[in-house]
Amino acid sequence: MKSRIILFASIVVLLFSTFSVAKNATKTVENIKAAIKGETTASAKYAAYAKKAKEEGNSKVAILFEAASKAESIHANNHRAVLEQLDAKMDDFKPEYTVKTTKENLEDAIKGETYETSTMYPSFLKTAQSENVSLALISFNYAFQTEKKHQALYKNALEQLNNGKEKSLPSKYMVCSTCGNTYDGEAPARCGISMTPKERFITIT
Ligand SMILES: [Fe+2]
Ligand SMILES: [Fe+2]
Repeated sequence: MKSRIILFASIVVLLFSTFSVAKNATKTVENIKAAIKGETTASAKYAAYAKKAKEEGNSKVAILFEAASKAESIHANNHRAVLEQLDAKMDDFKPEYTVKTTKENLEDAIKGETYETSTMYPSFLKTAQSENVSLALISFNYAFQTEKKHQALYKNALEQLNNGKEKSLPSKYMVCSTCGNTYDGEAPARCGISMTPKERFITIT
């Protein structure tokens, strides 16, 4: 009898905790969906920008776009895993973007990364903190920290392109397979964001 009562009480606690997590994570679930859309679109867009940069003879800018595209796909996958953990689903969507000249594409990329680092992720992180969704905090933070680096890399690339020094840009990047962290040239022994060992980085050349 006693064990039955304990079992019943455990089920009630479990049901209540599941319900309360789902209930409290409402805003974060919507934010994760928005982040999946943003990261998936950025990944597809940067791949298209890389192709355009190659066509225009800006091969070094193309490599940067390819590396960032890979990083954004890692962010999208991380966010999707969190959404799954929260037992939520989202509708299919088609990434929408416009390919212009490489100079304009870099300006657009800087704009996107600036929005994510100054507005979107700080707000999503704050909400995930107040709703206590720890997995979303990890995933949002991985993206937030990486986008700050992308913003700097794109700004530098635009400056070099405008100064006729595109060829002096890095010809190799290393992308962390856990968090998308993007290093120009060699990565350190462990990722500065997620501590992932260098052996698990993806090299883009
Ligand atoms: Fe990203
Ligand atoms: Fe980015």
